[in-house]
Amino acid sequence: MCGIVGYVGGQSALDVVIAGLKRLEYRGYDSAGVAVLSDGGLAAAKKAGKLVNLEKELVDRPLSSGSTGIGHTRWATHGGPTDANAHPHLDNAGRVAVVHNGIIENFAVLRAELADRGHRLTSETDTEVVAHLLAEEFSSVGDLAEAMRLVCRRLDGAFTLVAVHADQPDVVVGARRNSPLVVGVGEGENFLASDVSAFIAHTRSAVELGQDQVVELTREAVTVTDFDGAPAEVRAFHVDWDASAAEKGGYASFMLKEIAEQPKAVADTLLGRIDAEGRLRLDEVRIPDAVLREADKIVIIACGTAFHAGLIAKYAIEHWTRIPCEVELASEFRYRDPILGQRTLVIAISQSGETMDTLMALRHAREQGAKVLAVCNTNGATIPRESDAVLYTHAGPEVAVASTKAFLTQLVACYLLALYLGQVRGTQWGDEIHAVVRELARIADEVERVLETMEPVRALARSLADKDTVLFLGRHVGYPVALEGALKLKELAYMHAEGFAAGELKHGPIALIEHDLPVVVVVPSPRGRSVLHDKIVSNIQEIRARGARTIVIAEEGDEAVVPYADHLIRIPATPTLLQPLVSAVPLQVFACELATARGNEVDQPRNLAKSVTVE
Ligand code: F6R
Repeated sequence: MCGIVGYVGGQSALDVVIAGLKRLEYRGYDSAGVAVLSDGGLAAAKKAGKLVNLEKELVDRPLSSGSTGIGHTRWATHGGPTDANAHPHLDNAGRVAVVHNGIIENFAVLRAELADRGHRLTSETDTEVVAHLLAEEFSSVGDLAEAMRLVCRRLDGAFTLVAVHADQPDVVVGARRNSPLVVGVGEGENFLASDVSAFIAHTRSAVELGQDQVVELTREAVTVTDFDGAPAEVRAFHVDWDASAAEKGGYASFMLKEIAEQPKAVADTLLGRIDAEGRLRLDEVRIPDAVLREADKIVIIACGTAFHAGLIAKYAIEHWTRIPCEVELASEFRYRDPILGQRTLVIAISQSGETMDTLMALRHAREQGAKVLAVCNTNGATIPRESDAVLYTHAGPEVAVASTKAFLTQLVACYLLALYLGQVRGTQWGDEIHAVVRELARIADEVERVLETMEPVRALARSLADKDTVLFLGRHVGYPVALEGALKLKELAYMHAEGFAAGELKHGPIALIEHDLPVVVVVPSPRGRSVLHDKIVSNIQEIRARGARTIVIAEEGDEAVVPYADHLIRIPATPTLLQPLVSAVPLQVFACELATARGNEVDQPRNLAKSVTVE
C-alpha cells in the first residue's frame, strides 16, 4: 500500500524516480508525487489520480533536474485522493520533503502540538506532521538521518518514511517500522523503494531493512542504524529475477500475463521439492521434524485470495495428516483470543509477505508460543522474516492487483506442506498419496491445457457484461474455489458476486435465483467422492428449475452434468483435492474478460492496492 522510491546518484533523479513509481503503481494509485533536489533547492510536484496525471503536470511545469529525489504513489488512508493530500509533504519553509507508507497513529496529538508552535499544516494527512517535525529537529541537529531518528522515536504506528532536505542535497534518508523498505545498491548510486521492482532495471543487489531502522544513502554509502543511532544488522540479497519479469511482455495487462504464466509458476513451486522416489524435500522448513510430529493443531491465517488458498489447504491437511486444521481471516484472528500453544503450528499465507493483518496475527501467534511457517512469494519480506520458517512459492513478481498465479502457487505450496507433514508424521504412505504426488508432477501441463481452451469462456464472459449479479457454487474444495471466483469478479468487474457452498443453497440463498441469473457451479470429480458429485448435480437441477442460467465447470468425461448445463466448461480430470488448480483458472479468465468488457482496468481495480500494509 503506497509505493515509495528514493534515489541518489549520477542519473536524473526525476527519470529514475518516475520509472520506479511506474513499477510500484500497483501498490496504490490515488495520487502521485515527486521531490527533487538540485542547485536551485527543493522542487516538488504532486497530482491526484494515476501517475499519468503527474507526468502530464511535469510536462506542463517541468522541475529543474537534479540527482537526488524521492517519489510516492498513494493509497489514501487519511484524507481523500486530492492534490493537497498527495505526497511528498513539505515543511512551511519548503526545505524538507517526505513520503510515507503506513499510518501514524498519534498524528492528531503531534499535529496539535505543531499548530501550537506556529506550524501551518495544510493537508488532511497523518504524514504532513513528519515533514514539520523533521524540519524542527534538523534545525537543531543539522543532520537529516539524526533528525529522522529523533522523529521516529516520537511516532506510533506503522511507517516507512523517505525524506530529503535542501541543506543536504546528496543525501536520502529512510526509516522503517512494519511497512517494507528495501535498499538497491548500485555503482555510484543508491536506491530506496517499497520493493525491488522499482530499481531492478538498475541493480539486482539489495539490502533489506529491518524493523525500527534508519538508513542514510549517499552516492557511495549506505549507513543503517537503529532509532537510537547504533549500527544495525541488515541482510543483503541478490534479486533472482530481472526487469523483464515485471513487464507486460506483449500482453494487454499484467493480469493476462500472470494468468498465462501459471503453468511455469506452478512448475517453479514444485521444482526440486519432490525427489525421484516421490518423497518430499522441503529443506527450507527449518522447524524440527520433532516439532512437526508433535503438532496437535494447525491454524492457517491469511486474507482475501490467500485465505481461500488456506480454506482449500485445510481439506488437504486434514485428509493427509489427520491433524485438525482451522482457517482464520488474519484480520479477525488476534481479536478473538485464539487458543494457541507450543504444539500449534500456524501457517501464514501471503503473496506480498507484507499484509499487515497477517503480520499482526503471526506476531500474536508467536507471542502465544506457536511456531509459524510462512507460505510467501516475496523473498525477504516481513512475514517470512518474522516466521520460524518459510516455504517460498517462487511465482515470480505478481503485479496485477488481483491475485492469480500467487493463488495457484500458494495451493501447490500448501499441498507440498500437507504431504510433507504426512511424511514426517509417518501417515500411511498409501496409494492415494503416491497418486497425488505423481499427479502434482504433471499438474503444470494440465493448467496449460486449461489455458488453451479458454476462448469459449471469454466469449461467455463478454456476453454477460451487462448482468448485475453472478453466483458461484461449489462443494468440498470447490466451495473455496467458488468464493475465489466471486472475489475475482467483485474486485475486477465491480459486480455483485457471491460464492456459496452448494449444500447451503436451500438454507437461504436459493431465494436469490431468478430468471436468467448466471450461476457458476464447480462440480467435483465423479470419481473418488462421487456422493458429492451426485449431490451437486441435484443442486444444479434445483437452480435450473427456478430459471438460473447454469455455467458448469466439470471434468472431461463427466456426462451426468450435460443435460443441466446451459454452458459447459471442461477441465482435466485430477484427484479431487487438486481440482482447484484447474477449476480456478477459468474463473480467473472469466472475471478478467468480463471486467475488460465492462471497460474496467483490470490491473488496477478501483479502491484497491496490491499490498495491504495497513490494518
Ligand atoms: C485478491 C487479492 C487479495 C490478496 C490479499 C492478501 O485478488 O489479491 O485478496 O490475496 O490482500 O494479500 P497477500 O497474499 O499479499 O497477503
